[in-house]
Amino acid sequence: MSNYIPYGRQDISQADIDAVVKVLESDWITQGPAIEKFEQVVANYCGAKYAVAVSSATAALHIACLATGLGQGDTLWTSPNTFVASSNCGLYCGAKVDFVDINIHTYNLSVDELEGKLAWAEKQGCLPKVLIPVHFAGQSCEMERVASLSDRYGFKVIEDASHAIGGSYQGTRVGNCKFSDITVLSFHPVKMITTGEGGMLLTNEEELYQKFIRLRSHGITRNPDLMQGESHGSWYYQQLELGFNYRITDIQAALGVSQMERLDQFVSRRRFLAQRYNELLQDLLLTIPWQHPDTESSWHLYVIRLELDKITKTNRQVFEELRQAEIGVNLHYIPVHTQPYYQQLGFQCGEFPHVEKYYQEAISLPLYYGLTQENQDRVVASLTQRLI
Ligand SMILES: Cc1ncc(COP(=O)(O)O)c(C=O)c1O
Repeated sequence: MSNYIPYGRQDISQADIDAVVKVLESDWITQGPAIEKFEQVVANYCGAKYAVAVSSATAALHIACLATGLGQGDTLWTSPNTFVASSNCGLYCGAKVDFVDINIHTYNLSVDELEGKLAWAEKQGCLPKVLIPVHFAGQSCEMERVASLSDRYGFKVIEDASHAIGGSYQGTRVGNCKFSDITVLSFHPVKMITTGEGGMLLTNEEELYQKFIRLRSHGITRNPDLMQGESHGSWYYQQLELGFNYRITDIQAALGVSQMERLDQFVSRRRFLAQRYNELLQDLLLTIPWQHPDTESSWHLYVIRLELDKITKTNRQVFEELRQAEIGVNLHYIPVHTQPYYQQLGFQCGEFPHVEKYYQEAISLPLYYGLTQENQDRVVASLTQRLI
């Protein structure tokens, strides 16, 4: 498949490989110094006080929900335009899940819809305990408005910034938790930086930080100050709550530290390519991604929407033809509430019309650090050919 252009791809340098090998040759391959270093580097970059690295963003979302106290009888709201992990985390905790339809320009959760739904939920007595705004494609949600609604209605905010490290909002970096309780990052290979699998929790609250540390590792503490009663000695630990093995390894963390050195380079290349797509696609029968003036995206994804009323083909036809031409297009996302599992929970197609319409029209074009202009031109030419 040498001609195949994927939609996303990691970029691994010799320095990354050397950093991993160094850990493999050291005394620690898990729970060693590379994890703390990785946490420090990301916390400093994002501007948050505390960071806890874990095995995936899915694990991070689960821990984040538990740390807010989410449980049976509670409700979590998120965007339906996301990967299933953003809502599954609520179900893991025994909570109910509901969705807020998207803004048809940003494809993020619509804050207008949120406002209306909160007013309705207050009257019904079913306000959410947790809201997870997802920074879709790397573009931040309107967090200042979200935060003021959180103050008014008392829900906790967990930013799902799986797509958004390297992006900014109102001039400061995504991940600083200025308008949220917790931010979650993903380091899956198609994301801005990778650790293979991996995720991180960011917060400015020490109590949450201590919870994350415990929940990451079986609910256990080795800190005598946090124990019930006296420590029995230096071997002693206590399990204080039910936690998990959600640890990341030092091998992965070393890769993360090394990748962080090139994060700005990765993001600026993505921005350049996104801008180039904007120019090359501007006259085609499609909508290019709109950017809210408060945001600077990290450009995890470049999503176009076909103007289906002006072309004779369906989205599916265009998609399959591009795949046949070895252009690795993708579709982000199948609205979560339309998944069979969520339908069994009682959700119905038609409930969130904006995201369902978006799903009929959207295609993610290839976008990654190593995408050459030549290959980008091939994507554009192939798409152009199919839209006339
Ligand atoms: C928005 C969003 N949230 C959560 C996740 C889960 O991330 P991970 O694969 O690191 O568990 C993903 C993964 O693609 C995602 O896109």
